[in-house]
Amino acid sequence: MAIGIVPLIILQLLILRSYESRAVQQRLMDVQEQCKIVSNQLQGYGYLDNTQSEVMDAVLTQLSNLFNGRVLIIDGNYRVVKDTYMLEEGKTVISEEVLRCFLGESSSNYSPRYQCVEAVAPVYGNGQEVAGAVLVSASVGNIYMMEDFISSKGLIIQIALSAVILVLAIVLSIVLVRPLGKISHSMEDLGNEDLSEVMSVSDYTETQAISDAYNNMIGRIRKLDESRQEFVSNVSHELKTPLTSMKVLADSLLMQGDEVPAELYKEFMEDITAEIDRENKIITDLLSLVKLDKKNADLDIKPININDLLELILKRLRPIAAKADIELVFESFRPVVAEVDEVKLTLALSNLIENAVKYNKEGGWVHVSLNADHKFFYVKVADSGIGIPEEDQEHIFERFYRVDKSHSREIGGTGLGLAITRSAILMHRGAVKVYSKVDEGTTFTIRIPLAYVN
Ligand SMILES: Nc1ncnc2c1ncn2[C@@H]1O[C@H](COP(=O)(O)OP(=O)(O)OP(=O)(O)O)[C@@H](O)[C@H]1O
Ligand SMILES: [Mg+2]
Repeated sequence: MAIGIVPLIILQLLILRSYESRAVQQRLMDVQEQCKIVSNQLQGYGYLDNTQSEVMDAVLTQLSNLFNGRVLIIDGNYRVVKDTYMLEEGKTVISEEVLRCFLGESSSNYSPRYQCVEAVAPVYGNGQEVAGAVLVSASVGNIYMMEDFISSKGLIIQIALSAVILVLAIVLSIVLVRPLGKISHSMEDLGNEDLSEVMSVSDYTETQAISDAYNNMIGRIRKLDESRQEFVSNVSHELKTPLTSMKVLADSLLMQGDEVPAELYKEFMEDITAEIDRENKIITDLLSLVKLDKKNADLDIKPININDLLELILKRLRPIAAKADIELVFESFRPVVAEVDEVKLTLALSNLIENAVKYNKEGGWVHVSLNADHKFFYVKVADSGIGIPEEDQEHIFERFYRVDKSHSREIGGTGLGLAITRSAILMHRGAVKVYSKVDEGTTFTIRIPLAYVN
């Protein structure tokens, strides 16, 4: 609105001002010109010597009518010899302009106060001397009248234009804003409904871009929601399984009545203890995952000797490996000290080596090696185990994912180990990769920066 109307007003003022100054200038020049012509005529007729010339009187009257003004003729004694208004005849006029005129100078001026322009020109006698002066004043009132006329017309135009602009502004704002309204409606609708709907407002390229971005975001939220639901159902299922087993075991003990043989009782109790351990492990794993999931969860970064760390992990796992007759070998190419969180890295590496032992064959082997360059250190865990089918390899780092459920169940595990490993390695800005062939073995490689970068 304002953008339309303010320039209109400024434009009108500018036009009026320039019209006024030009019109006044023009009038001033006309008056000056006529003044000079009259002065020449007066000289020709010798009017100052004989003021009874009818021709000259007619010329002067016509001139004063033409300009809607007044003509004064002054003789050498500063006396008014002719006044077209006949008011000042016989009086003496001594003004600055008249005095300068007798020195041979014509002059003209504009007086906005009296709304008139004035010109004075000398009348020469027979020789070069100034014998008198002509003073012509002309009203510029008609210019002001014209100006008023124009401005009143301008006002009408202004009002009309303002109305047009107002209507245009309203229409445009409605038209322009409508697609945005559509977007916000769609958002509200989608917010209430399920997340499967897609929004499309293709009125403008921009609104289409907004809808696309919104759809993208909804897509991501949907995925997140699905994975959250899956996680929750997995967790509850995993937590319930040991409880169900314990319940079955306890129930069957109770059903036996009082005559439970001591060995059976002991066996069942051992099974129950195992289930409790399992439940405990799941909860512990879940808790460490939750902790790792927090972005940059408080890492306790310290320079750690990785050789020592690996030796310790292997020492702990050796009894389990020995039970299955698995050879556990550690090979280090150089001493490595790196800035890591000892607890979390131990968790990550233990899970890998534990898997290599768990998913191995009787009499197999597990090779753990450590190497480093100037930037990273590398840990390789290779085994001669059952291997992981190609199609499963991309999923094994997901929570609760186990390749062969029945087999894995037999071995015992929840599918959280590798998820923990991956989170811990990513927190150290590292990477983990898997190479595997079914029935031949699996190799996990880890790369972690020697210096921790925030
Ligand atoms: N070295 C390996 N050889 C063969 N299969 C493996 C190996 N490591 C992991 N897997 C497969 O990947 C699956 C996921 O491993 P992950 O460590 O996450 O879970 P898990 O060992 O079953 O349970 P958890 O480690 O939580 O006790 C395992 O169930 C197994 O099928
Ligand atoms: Mg595991």
